[in-house]
Amino acid sequence: MIDRCCISVTEKCNLRCKYCHFATAGRRSRDVTKDEIASIVSSIRLYVSSHGTEFKVGIVGGGEPLIRFDMLQFIVEQLETDSRIKMYTISNGVDVDDAKLRFVWEHRNSLDYCISIDGGELLHDSNRIDVAGRGTFSKVMETVQKYEELFGHKPSVNCTVTPQLLAEKEQTIGFFADNGFKKVTFSKLFDSDDKILTGEFDALLKEASGHLEIRQLRKKKSYDCTQYGALCGVGRTNIYYASGLVYPCARFAGMSDYCIGSATDSLESIEANLKRIIPCEDGLCYYDQCFTKGAVQ
Ligand SMILES: C[S@@+](CC[C@H](N)C(=O)[O-])C[C@H]1O[C@@H](n2cnc3c(N)ncnc32)[C@H](O)[C@@H]1O
Ligand code: SF4
Repeated sequence: MIDRCCISVTEKCNLRCKYCHFATAGRRSRDVTKDEIASIVSSIRLYVSSHGTEFKVGIVGGGEPLIRFDMLQFIVEQLETDSRIKMYTISNGVDVDDAKLRFVWEHRNSLDYCISIDGGELLHDSNRIDVAGRGTFSKVMETVQKYEELFGHKPSVNCTVTPQLLAEKEQTIGFFADNGFKKVTFSKLFDSDDKILTGEFDALLKEASGHLEIRQLRKKKSYDCTQYGALCGVGRTNIYYASGLVYPCARFAGMSDYCIGSATDSLESIEANLKRIIPCEDGLCYYDQCFTKGAVQ
């Protein structure tokens, strides 16, 4: 049963992060259209009401979702009427004006707004740069401050784990804890020459859990993505919409051999295609299995 999807609302971005897998893999394609978004939203509503299931929608993808705030707004307003559907977005936190933040606040019961911060200023700015090559830390922290003024607490954070971060593990955990961040998801760098070993990543999570609430260490067994520390949902529970097409996860975006449907298909029909994929064992990544140890499809 599908219980989670990500919708890429734009492939465009206002930043040029050095490790960005969408940019480095050359997979940026056309943007999804408003009509396609309307179809996706209506398929999700139908599926949730006919199966009576809970459903998570990530408004994320190949670029910066807040660049297409109109799309994000439309999705939230259409889906929030069903309390079984919960949404989140991950944003780079740059160019977020007051009106956007106010919308996020007004819809806080159905939408979680998460900001990408890679730790303290030097570490963050070593990778997360704008089109002119300037670090973005100070702009992101301005957004964090505005968020905190509205919500009374810090936003949740997505922090990408690079070898530099592992070398500064204690300082990075200290940065988040000392500045009052509570919910941090560490995501393992992928599609990069720099490899992050599972043992080192797990040690980071363990150490961080003494100071922060780490999403991956929740007791409940969940399938979403091994790069975020949980289990791979490919072939089981997850799908990814990009450029009007559907893929098993974001890493397959743009790969026609792995396309499992389109924005106009019902979720039942996408599910039938998804079931043809043999999921990998718990703990493994389906994409890595395909491209580093031979296809398992
Ligand atoms: C693809 S971005 C989209 C949202 C937005 N543009 C942002 O950066 O927050 C979602 C998350 O993926 C992370 N990410 C990008 N490239 C990555 C890579 N090669 N390995 C692991 N995570 C990566 C980003 O740091 C961000 O936290
Ligand atoms: S802000 Fe997000 S999508 Fe844009 S370059 Fe950075 S990681 Fe990639």
